[in-house]
Amino acid sequence: MQTESLARDPNLSALLHDIHNVFKGTSIILDQLIDGLYGGSLDEIRPLLIAILERNNRGANLIEAKSTAFYEINSSMVTQFDMLVFLKKMSIEFCPIAQSQSLKLHYEASSSYKHGTQVRGDMVNISRMISNLLQNAIKYTNRGEVFLRLLAQGDDLLIEIEDTGIGIAAEQISTIFLPFWRARENEVRNQSGMGLGLYIALMVAHAHGLKMKVNSIVGQGTKFSIVFPYNNGVYGLGDGKICPKIPEARRCAI
Ligand SMILES: Nc1ncnc2c1ncn2[C@@H]1O[C@H](COP(=O)(O)OP(=O)(O)OP(=O)(O)O)[C@@H](O)[C@H]1O
Ligand SMILES: [Mg+2]
Repeated sequence: MQTESLARDPNLSALLHDIHNVFKGTSIILDQLIDGLYGGSLDEIRPLLIAILERNNRGANLIEAKSTAFYEINSSMVTQFDMLVFLKKMSIEFCPIAQSQSLKLHYEASSSYKHGTQVRGDMVNISRMISNLLQNAIKYTNRGEVFLRLLAQGDDLLIEIEDTGIGIAAEQISTIFLPFWRARENEVRNQSGMGLGLYIALMVAHAHGLKMKVNSIVGQGTKFSIVFPYNNGVYGLGDGKICPKIPEARRCAI
């Protein structure tokens, strides 16, 4: 995919990127099933079947929402949902992908949250943000673990995606979100990728008014943190805080 095609139709380019990754992941899980990695009985393979189902649903949702931009909020796509349940599903989907790289994916939740775990936002696009970050955590980790966490941070909700992987050099942190940027190191170039995942993740975060932070140490690992601010009874987009689509954006005086 070229820079020009992203400029011409960023939505389509990003959509193809994310749908391709859904299919790639499904193939990985099917390979594991065919190889009998988890056993042969229905009970043994059930977690993989559920992972395929979650993945399929996510792929179908992406296609159904095809006209929705990832870089702005479409009010018809905004719903209220439970982030605890949502991330659990994402972890079920990505567990076998991590396993295929001999990594363990841990889903960790807090024992309590000040305002519960209800979030308001575009669930399809939020799943694109999280899946691209999880994908990277698995792809750029040779050994160790990947953590997906839902934590409380004061009034707000905090999602962390942490890995024990190759890390990102301090001088590269400001460029990693640029479309098509990839580090030159062999550990990165040996992996397939277009350099679009973080760009998509950041645009979704911006559209929702979420802060995204990166902490990384080369050779030790990387942590992406996303803060969902508490707003009028929910986290994320509070009532009446939706920025309309771009042509009308000036009317949005929040
Ligand atoms: N968790 C991570 N650990 C180490 N490096 C990372 C991590 N996440 C991103 N990077 C670096 O940032 C670059 C950009 O990431 P991004 O997700 O945008 O693209 P990609 O993973 O290379 O390809 P794509 O996501 O399009 O398949 C990566 O190529 C890599 O150099
Ligand atoms: Mg990526």
